[in-house]
Amino acid sequence: MHEKSPFVIVIFGATGDLAKSKLIPALFSLYKKQQLSKDFHIVGFARRNFTNEEYAHTLGEEMETHGDPGWADFSKRISYQKGLFEEKDGYDELTKRLNKIDEEMGACITRIYYLATPPNYYISILDHLKKTKLSEGCASKVAKKDGKKWTRLAIEKPFGRDLETAKELDKKLSEIFDEEQIYRVDHYLGKETVQNMIAFRFANNIFEPIWSKDYIDHIQITFAEEEGVRTRGKFFDGVGILRDVGQNHLLQILATVAMEQPMSFSKEGVRDARAKAIKAIRPINPSEVSKYVVRGQYEGYQLENGIVENSRTETFTAMKLFVDTPRFEDVPFYVRIGKKMPKEMMEISIVFKQTCHLLFKEYGCPEIGNVLTIRIQPDEGIKMRFIAKNPGSRVALGAVDMNFSYHQTYGNHGSDAYEKLLMDIHDGDQMLFNRSDELESSWGLITNILKNWEKEGDGLHVYEKGTWGPVEASVLIEKDSRKWIQ
Ligand code: BG6
Repeated sequence: MHEKSPFVIVIFGATGDLAKSKLIPALFSLYKKQQLSKDFHIVGFARRNFTNEEYAHTLGEEMETHGDPGWADFSKRISYQKGLFEEKDGYDELTKRLNKIDEEMGACITRIYYLATPPNYYISILDHLKKTKLSEGCASKVAKKDGKKWTRLAIEKPFGRDLETAKELDKKLSEIFDEEQIYRVDHYLGKETVQNMIAFRFANNIFEPIWSKDYIDHIQITFAEEEGVRTRGKFFDGVGILRDVGQNHLLQILATVAMEQPMSFSKEGVRDARAKAIKAIRPINPSEVSKYVVRGQYEGYQLENGIVENSRTETFTAMKLFVDTPRFEDVPFYVRIGKKMPKEMMEISIVFKQTCHLLFKEYGCPEIGNVLTIRIQPDEGIKMRFIAKNPGSRVALGAVDMNFSYHQTYGNHGSDAYEKLLMDIHDGDQMLFNRSDELESSWGLITNILKNWEKEGDGLHVYEKGTWGPVEASVLIEKDSRKWIQ
């Protein structure tokens, strides 16, 4: 953060998984790094009955920070407002609480409203923010006159359930807040390796010229999680992995690979480039969904907590996509997202065309030649695989790796994605947040697929836990004489 200005962050859904496991730890870490003003307040808003101390205690317990000397002071900044998202009373109490903070400070301070609730509450919360004028921020007449916007709204994905509901939500947002006040969060954009893609591609002259259909055979993106639905069964079951991860994290990662050089390294420059890349993804013809998309569910999913009986929700999706730009004309992007996979692996592999056989056919070329792999997590880094002559008097070729590891180079590098994003919200920097046109394009693509599943039957394939999804996902790529890189 540049200037450490005072702020208050109100977390709606304060007792939920996101608040406890991501937002509060990120704020605590920023506090410990002394990146926050000494005047900041965290107000948790949720349905349950808690005193301020009880609420702070539940958070401390969660993070096992009792032994941490910073926690005692940090937790003094935390208070709790009981309220139902659908009823006005809680918001009225919240107004009094926030006005009191302004009075004590003798100034209007920035208010960040963070919607970390299940998405079905978004409209109700937004309506109440408007009705109670909380959306306008500080009640002081001075603030009103100077026209400054004192409030910011952060809203988590999933941003709607399909194109139509995403548009409705966006309409509602724009009736209440100006675009400059809205932060649509996709935390993958805050990850160090995803941010680094722009530098890697456009600051290194050696990669950009070969980043095209002339050199690239195909691209793979894998977003594999070892975990299942953990404690989030109820939420996940109503959503499915295509909405939960495909519409957002996956397509945002794809956009960083496919986008053209931004006009400038500025909020709008980068967002324009991202939006154009997502818009250029070729829509899948509804009658051809089963040809390009594979849908799976891990064995035993239906027995997990919070899952409805005989649920048909998908925990795995693989797709073959194309980005219709001159750069990537007809280069397939094979992407897969899945839970209960053999290992944690979020990575992009750019597989270059094989030319080894032109000269070395009879010496045995490796099956796959040059691959540039960008590891988003774990073990963040970049790996270049190339072909080398094996040592020895006879000519034989093999593949070797050149590896850059963030950890080895920078040690405990950078900040967690939520730390980065919370700082950006505070600083008013929207570069790493989605603009509504990006969302409209990504929802357009995904909605086509969802509608086809509803209409034509969902084509759900069961796969064994700890495997790379149903066999149909291998067929999707192998019928093009290519293979998934594990
Ligand atoms: C969330 C999804 O947005 O991202 C989860 O809702 C997923 O289903 C998670 O597990 C992955 O994020 P991370 O940062 O833990 O890789």
